[in-house]
Amino acid sequence: MVRVNDMRMEIKRLQKKYGAKTALKEIDLTLESGIYGILGENGAGKSTLLNILTDNIPRTAGEILYDGTEIIKLGKQYRKKLGYMPQEQGLYGQLTGKAFLLYMASVKGVPKKTAKNQIEELLERVNLKDAGKVRISHYSGGMKQRLLLAQALLGEPEIIILDEPTAGLDPKERIRMRNFITELSSEKIVIFATHIVSDIECIADYVVLLHDGSIIQKGAPIELIDEVKTHIFEKKCDKNQIRAIKNDYPYGNLMQKRDGLAYRIAAEEKPPGFTEAKEDMNLEDVYMYHIGRRIKD
Ligand SMILES: Nc1ncnc2c1ncn2[C@@H]1O[C@H](COP(=O)(O)OP(=O)(O)O)[C@@H](O)[C@H]1O
Ligand SMILES: [Mg+2]
Repeated sequence: MVRVNDMRMEIKRLQKKYGAKTALKEIDLTLESGIYGILGENGAGKSTLLNILTDNIPRTAGEILYDGTEIIKLGKQYRKKLGYMPQEQGLYGQLTGKAFLLYMASVKGVPKKTAKNQIEELLERVNLKDAGKVRISHYSGGMKQRLLLAQALLGEPEIIILDEPTAGLDPKERIRMRNFITELSSEKIVIFATHIVSDIECIADYVVLLHDGSIIQKGAPIELIDEVKTHIFEKKCDKNQIRAIKNDYPYGNLMQKRDGLAYRIAAEEKPPGFTEAKEDMNLEDVYMYHIGRRIKD
């Protein structure tokens, strides 16, 4: 792929503490153009990381360089390149979708004429063309999320940061949102956080597994799947055995197979009674191997 420009974000030894709580331990990550999925359970530190990358909250230690310059030094110049969809959203219910986008464009310093054109285009792109004149208080959850995505794309940012963009969406809207993300230009840095594995399946060029403030693993989905595939095991079971198996192996996936139920787990070595899983290797297995096993309920 030919690079149009050399967007490069380097995160070095990034640390964040909230008082005594260390939310990010020592994050090292380099991002170039492409779609990055940050995957981790609730409390892993995803929002904290994104809030630091958007320069919304201060870090405790470390550096973040954009094209070689510290983002704090770049200040406004950096923030202009950013589009951000926060996890917590305060929307102005009394505004129409269009008025909200106009307002956000002015906050971002997008010239009015440019903003107007962009808003028409963005509303169309997120399927809200007809809803632009409707007050946000009448929007469904999915419509609100799509409006927030449109807001993040105002000003044609080269870095797009989305925090749990599919949160609270029904399956249809979830797929829709994922498709919008896939369609974003490959000449941008797109970072999106989620705790739902299927959100990044088939979308992310690069997956970053975050657990308890640390990056546990990162890489292209295929690589990550390849790496764990000899560590996934299955055991056939019937309904009345499920409880006992779960007791022995608390983190696993119950699967409906053609010939009945199977319980699927990740382990270093094959446990007695299990067989190597042969098919359907996916990111769920990667998650189970790297993170699931570490989560203590
Ligand atoms: N403002 C805050 N003050 C204190 N602790 C916080 C604050 N924000 C987040 N945390 C804690 O930091 C950790 C990471 O939180 P967060 O970044 O929101 O994780 P995620 O987005 O992955 O769910 C959690 O343990 C959370 O309770
Ligand atoms: Mg979060």
